[in-house]
Amino acid sequence: MGIQEDVRDKVERWADFLFNDFRSFGLFFCISQDLYVTLAEHYALSKEDSKTKAGVVLNPSDAGQCLTELKRTEAFVRGLDEAVSLKKSQGRGPVRIFYAGCGPFATLVLPLTYRYKPEELQFTLLDFHDQSLRSATDLLKLLGKEDYCSEAVLGDAVTYTFPEEADYHICLTETLQRALTQECHVPIVQNLLGQLPEDVLLVPQEIRVGGLWAEPPGGSENRVREMEHDVELGDIIQLNARTVRENSFVRSVEAKGRAKPEQVFCLQTEIDVFGDWKLRRNESGLTCPHPLEQIEFQTGEMLRFEYEVGENPGLRLHRDGAVA
Ligand SMILES: C[S@@+](CC[C@H](N)C(=O)[O-])C[C@H]1O[C@@H](n2cnc3c(N)ncnc32)[C@H](O)[C@@H]1O
Repeated sequence: MGIQEDVRDKVERWADFLFNDFRSFGLFFCISQDLYVTLAEHYALSKEDSKTKAGVVLNPSDAGQCLTELKRTEAFVRGLDEAVSLKKSQGRGPVRIFYAGCGPFATLVLPLTYRYKPEELQFTLLDFHDQSLRSATDLLKLLGKEDYCSEAVLGDAVTYTFPEEADYHICLTETLQRALTQECHVPIVQNLLGQLPEDVLLVPQEIRVGGLWAEPPGGSENRVREMEHDVELGDIIQLNARTVRENSFVRSVEAKGRAKPEQVFCLQTEIDVFGDWKLRRNESGLTCPHPLEQIEFQTGEMLRFEYEVGENPGLRLHRDGAVA
């Protein structure tokens, strides 16, 4: 079998699986891992991250591997599908998506090309890495899906300026790590939404980061197990189209002390992708609790945080003029 047929079969199977409610997790992993390895080898994807003034830009190989994370990919693809079908029901022309950070496979829009015709769905792809953009457009061509892509832009989504004639219905980006650390998701959303009309849907619709006292994981385990003694502090970040436009996405919270001496303070991310599609604690790498070392406070204190955009983005706790 030639590479084109092989890739066509594998992508079709993977895309079909995402919309199939009766499937095994193990089988999905095999299907998606096989697809990822085939494509990563075919495009010889690089493992070099880039660093910018607004954070790290994930390398093409790891950006491609995101497709193997079942819950994340399913929630994003099916949430996006709900957003597209909502916009489709409201208008006559194709639904236009601006996809910032498409990675090497345009992973989040690719499965939708099996559900909509090009007259119904059009997207612009943008990525910082030339190799990612080139593989994404080549893959669409290989699959005979190039008619869905109106434009492919090599650029930095943090500073990108839309041309005057831009006319998008959905702004899509998944350029984040848990607790909105390391990558540039926040400044990307600030930059893009600042230029788009209010009726443009943002996907993911809302990201919340809250405080949590929880028992640390053992060994190399990443997931902090849910326990009855966990103490939740409420949302510190609530990032959605409104709070981004109003620049009001960070809030102060009232502190609660830990319930057990071994608990560590964590930042807990939750993602509402769109409609019914959500990611909760430990359902993906993006929503695993993020332990913060050396943070101490007393019950009743007001905790004032700031979100810092920069080479090492993330929440910082302000107290008595100092930053932790
Ligand atoms: C976490 S990966 C996600 C890949 C794919 N969208 C997915 O969901 O599977 C993030 C992608 O966004 C791109 N990216 C990150 N920051 C960017 C920026 N400031 N401008 C443009 N692209 C960026 C990276 O190059 C990478 O391809």
